[in-house]
Amino acid sequence: MDSSKGINVDMRVRIGALELRNPVMTASGTFASGKEYADFVDLSRLGAVVTKGVSMKPWAGNASPRIAETASGMLNSIGLQNPGVEAFCAKDLPWLATQDVPVIVNVSGHSLAEYVAVAERLDSESAVDALEVNISCPNVDEGGMAFGTDCTSAADVTRAVRAVTSKTLIVKLSPNVTDVTEIARAVEAEGADAVSLINTLLGMAIDTDTWKPKLARSVGGLSGPAIKPVAVRMVWQVASAVSIPVVGMGGIMNAEDAVEFMLAGATAVAVGTANFVDPGATMRVVDGLEQYCRLRGLDRVSAMTGAVSR
Ligand SMILES: Cc1cc2nc3c(=O)[nH]c(=O)nc-3n(C[C@H](O)[C@H](O)[C@H](O)COP(=O)(O)O)c2cc1C
Repeated sequence: MDSSKGINVDMRVRIGALELRNPVMTASGTFASGKEYADFVDLSRLGAVVTKGVSMKPWAGNASPRIAETASGMLNSIGLQNPGVEAFCAKDLPWLATQDVPVIVNVSGHSLAEYVAVAERLDSESAVDALEVNISCPNVDEGGMAFGTDCTSAADVTRAVRAVTSKTLIVKLSPNVTDVTEIARAVEAEGADAVSLINTLLGMAIDTDTWKPKLARSVGGLSGPAIKPVAVRMVWQVASAVSIPVVGMGGIMNAEDAVEFMLAGATAVAVGTANFVDPGATMRVVDGLEQYCRLRGLDRVSAMTGAVSR
């Protein structure tokens, strides 16, 4: 809240049982577990920290090169590299618990059983406020996106995870589908408290000197400003198809981008690739959103959610 320019803007939003002090989160995989950014970002000014993806066992990720720059974006094929849920709980979570910010842990799996095992393990941790189940990673051969591109599999994962956790459950959707609203409806019907979208778009880049793909895995996930119009369109479609909150992301670089997502129907937003360009990007978006509301005479940020369709 800031009354310096005459208007108090209520920046709070609600996602499931979680009340966030503002709508700005970090996008999974672009902010590690937050510690690495603590010199640049006051974590207590974020709506929530969304951690990198966590699986049951440690994953080494894919072979390098696994990052390639593209026009207005980047391709990555990291492949959910992480030290496993036990190491996460032992090393990252205790530090996050000392920070005054809601913690949303991104859950990965190669199989339905792995999603369930990770969710069950995290359910016992009081420092975890919510789970974001990633059924949309394009960079693994088994699991990941395979669960998010088919209504039945998306519903199965959501139902199974719902059964083992009472924490706020967000399901992260893939844009690599014909009709994203079908998947959103399927996970809502199985008890998801919110959906987040979009994960990266499957893409490819080729080196014209070597005639080889720029990524060792050939294909990867495209993120950054290049995908923003696709993401805004999907958020708009999903927001009118479900009644649970939508967390919008994909190419948010500044507060105006975040406003666009909220007008399309997002209750909250996540900042991803922008963190690599400017580690303080999330703070600019938080400040800019509040400033935008004040200039427009809005006394609550949530008034923007879905306004384009009203
Ligand atoms: C390097 C990198 C790693 C990512 N890792 C994850 C991950 O572990 N889990 C996940 O759900 N999404 C992951 N994502 C997807 C982002 O969270 C986000 O959905 C996507 O990048 C679109 O947002 P952006 O354009 O703002 O980056 C990753 C993205 C990048 C660029």
